[in-house]
This record gives sequence, structure tokens and C-alpha cells, in this order.
Amino acid sequence: MRANASAGPKRAHSPETRGGVTVVVLAAGKGVRMNSRIPKVLHLVAGRPMLLWSMAAARALDPERTLVVTNPAQNGVQAALNGEGQTVAQREQLGTGHALAQVDAAHRTRGPVVVLYADAPLLRAQTLQRLLKEHRKAEAAVSLLTATLDQPHGYGRIVRGRNGAFRAIVEEKDASEEERAITEVNSGIYVFSGRELWPALLKLENKNRAGEYYLTDIVRQLKGKVHTVPVEDGDEILGINDRRQLAQAERVMRQRILDQLMLSGVTITDPATTFVDADVQIGQDTVIHPFTTITGESVIGEDCVIGPMTQLRDSTVGDGSRIERSHLEKTKVASKVTIGPFSRLREGTVLEDGVHVGTHTEIKNTKIGPGSAVPHFSYLGDAVVGANVNIGAGSITANWDGFEKNTTEIGDRAYVSCDTIFVAPVRLGSDATTAADTVVTKDVPAGSLAIGRPEMKIVEGYTARRRARHKAEVKKP
Ligand code: UD1
Ligand code: CA
Repeated sequence: MRANASAGPKRAHSPETRGGVTVVVLAAGKGVRMNSRIPKVLHLVAGRPMLLWSMAAARALDPERTLVVTNPAQNGVQAALNGEGQTVAQREQLGTGHALAQVDAAHRTRGPVVVLYADAPLLRAQTLQRLLKEHRKAEAAVSLLTATLDQPHGYGRIVRGRNGAFRAIVEEKDASEEERAITEVNSGIYVFSGRELWPALLKLENKNRAGEYYLTDIVRQLKGKVHTVPVEDGDEILGINDRRQLAQAERVMRQRILDQLMLSGVTITDPATTFVDADVQIGQDTVIHPFTTITGESVIGEDCVIGPMTQLRDSTVGDGSRIERSHLEKTKVASKVTIGPFSRLREGTVLEDGVHVGTHTEIKNTKIGPGSAVPHFSYLGDAVVGANVNIGAGSITANWDGFEKNTTEIGDRAYVSCDTIFVAPVRLGSDATTAADTVVTKDVPAGSLAIGRPEMKIVEGYTARRRARHKAEVKKP
């Protein structure tokens, strides 16, 4: 996230630039219908807090300033903004009009004031740009984005006169039956002329069912023209009030992300079962197979095959790697690496070029050098493994002594036979070999063999004697 991206380079507040755009994002609502301990605007859509979708749309206008009206009693909102925009406190939640009225005199500029509700993450930047452009052209007091919905329930309705001219926005709670049948709704996305907005805001009243200061009532107080701009795609104005709408937004956003990836050259065999977060990057000719989720800040290279049934979280994957039925978290995978099926790579795993991790392997905080293989049933924790090492099936690092984590070092070209246990801290030198079933408790010098198991005995004729004994026992009455 760019810090304070909306401000751009240093700009003096000269009279010429006073007409610059001010964006106000309203994010202080209680979000009662979410039934959540988390502020509504911090709920995630495609991995991003809802509020940050509004901030991204705002950035597209290259505004002079972006103000975010927040509720100081809600934790985490300021932190999520990560220095972007300037917060304005609304201590009591008395409605959207009241929220906008918290903007102080110094910021009540005369130029265009774009108001966004932070619970509408699907708004496209181009739509907002178009609204601003049309507003300027129309020289209106306010331009509002409207949409015609099959299900207008919950939205303020746009009431028009016989000639089609805009008359009012009526909130659902206050609407008559006839008004409720109207399918054209208010998006909550407006561009005001600052000159007209601020004086009119002083006149707002709360004489309605909710007892709130509705921003929507301001259109009655404005002297100038009210311009409405319809948006074709009704999804864009989806306001999230409860978690069913949150899921709806997630679905729309997911499809947009997948469409964009497919158009950029990524094959997604089944978009219906593929989930990719907004900030993920995927290279050309990579194929994503079904039931795969790629989330957080993951970056996937070109010509990879990911999935089926794979989860990648905050992980990077180099070109030409293949990952099947595995879970990766905060892992760095280089090029031409193969992983899976059924392996789990946890935080701090680094796999260099050409590494092979096979099945049922868990790796944590471990670096594995180029060309090395961990093909089956291993656990490597807090280890540093060199290049071209083979780790035999069932080998593990005993990295935890009950008090702290200890490191295992395995040198280049070491050959670790099956079922080796490294009791860390311990070091296996380069070109060293361990015999199967060895418990490595001491450092092993380079090129040596470590063997630590009871010597094998041979008991000749044993099986025949055992079977005879068994037969005799069964015959006994
Ligand atoms: C609002 C509109 C409605 C519109 C709909 C679009 C009003 C009165 N109604 O209704 O016409 O169709 O959005 O989605 O504006 N907020 C504050 N402080 C407050 C109250 C709200 O900052 O005191 C913020 C919320 O965080 C939210 C936004 O304003 O982001 C909208 O509030 P919400 O209560 O969700 O309004 P709706 O009932 O959805
Ligand atoms: Ca809402």
C-alpha cells in the first residue's frame, strides 16, 4: 500500500488548485446488521478490507485530499488505512448526513466533493471517473449515481415527477407502498459542488423514522441542479449491510479477478471452484486447477501448474513449478520446483530451484538448496539443507527439545537414508551419509557415514519353528 497515495506529490493550496477534488469516505457506521465484533468496513472482500476498495476507487480520481470519517470507538480502522487519507472522527452515529458534517471548516472546499460509503466495494474506478466528468459537464449542485435493481429492497428509492425529473430520495423505512415499488435506487455515491454542499448540510434535520440525519435529504436543501447518472451494472452499487451481501460481493469480485487473470493469459480450468485474492499476481500460461485458493500477497510465476486442491497463502512461486494437493503458507518457492500431493509447507520455508517435495511432508522455517529432494513422509523444522541432498522417507528433524527450537544443518550432496532422526542442534557434513534408522545425536564430519542402530541378527529356520509351535497349540483340546 502506498502511503498517502491520494495526496500525490507536494501541491500548494494555491487559489488555482482550491478547485481540486475532495473525497470523503463514510466509514463510521455501527454496522449493526453484520452482527460482528469487527467493524463492518474491515470485513474482507477478496482478501481486502472493504474500506480499502473505496480508497482504491478514490485514488483513481487523483484527489486533492481524501478524508475518511471513522468512529474512534472502532479498533483497527486507522491501522487498516496504513497512513492513507486523513481521518475525521464521528463520535456519535447519527446518520450519513451527520457523518459528512464532521468535516471541519478547513476542509470545506468549494470544488467537487465526492462522497463514498465504505460499504460499497464493487464500485469501479471508471464509473466514479465518469460520474465526476458528467458532474463537471452538467454544472450540477449534486450528481448522484443510481441503479435500477430487480431487488431494490433496503435502498433509498429515487422518486421522480411525471416528466421524469428527479424529485427526492426516500429511504425505505419512510417510503410509501407506492414508493417501495420503485426499482431505481440511490447508490450512496455522489459528487457535490462544495460551494452548495456545506451550507446546505447545516440545514439537515432528523425528522424521519430512524431519527437520523440522512445525507439523502440534502438534495431538498440544495439550490442548484440535481443530476442523476445511471450505472448499467447494478452490482457496482451493492451496499453491504449483512453477511449475505458480503458473500454476494465476494462472489462478484472473485469473478472479476478470475476474468482479469484469464484475459491476461492464465488458464483457470474451473472458475467456479477457484478463489484468488485481489492482490495476487499470476504469470502467463500458468494453469490453475479446481478447488484451489490463492490468497494474501501471493505471487505465482509463468508456466506453473497449481492444484487441484491447493492452498497458497502469502507465498511466492517461481516459473515452471508444479504444486498439487498441498498447503503453502508464507513459503518461497523458486523455479521448476515440484510439490505434493499432500504436503504442508509452513511459514519460513524456502525451496530453491529444482527442489522436489513429495507426499506427506511437513516443512517449517527451513531452507532447502537447489536440486534437493524430500520425497516422502518427512518433517523438516528449523533446518538448513544444502544442494542435491536426498532426504530418505520418514526422516525427521527433532527440532524441539521441550524448551526451545534447535537447528539442523545438512551439507551439500549428503545422502540421508530412510528413517534418520536428527536430534537438533546437529550438523551433517557435506557428502556425508546416514544409514537407515540412525538417530543422529552428534555432528557428522563431511564425507563420513553415520550409523546408529543395533546390529542386525539372523536366526535361521525361525519361521518353520514358529509355525510348527502354532499348529501344536491349536490342536490342543
Ligand atoms: C444508505 C442510503 C441509501 C442508499 C444506500 C446505498 C442514507 C440515509 N441512505 O443507506 O439511500 O440506497 O446507503 O447503499 O444515506 N455511516 C457513517 N456514520 C453514520 C451512519 C453511516 O459513517 O452515522 C456510514 C457507514 O459506515 C456506511 C455508510 O455510511 O459506510 C452508509 O450507511 P448505512 O447505514 O449502511 O446506510 P444504508 O441504510 O445502507
Ligand atoms: Ca449500507
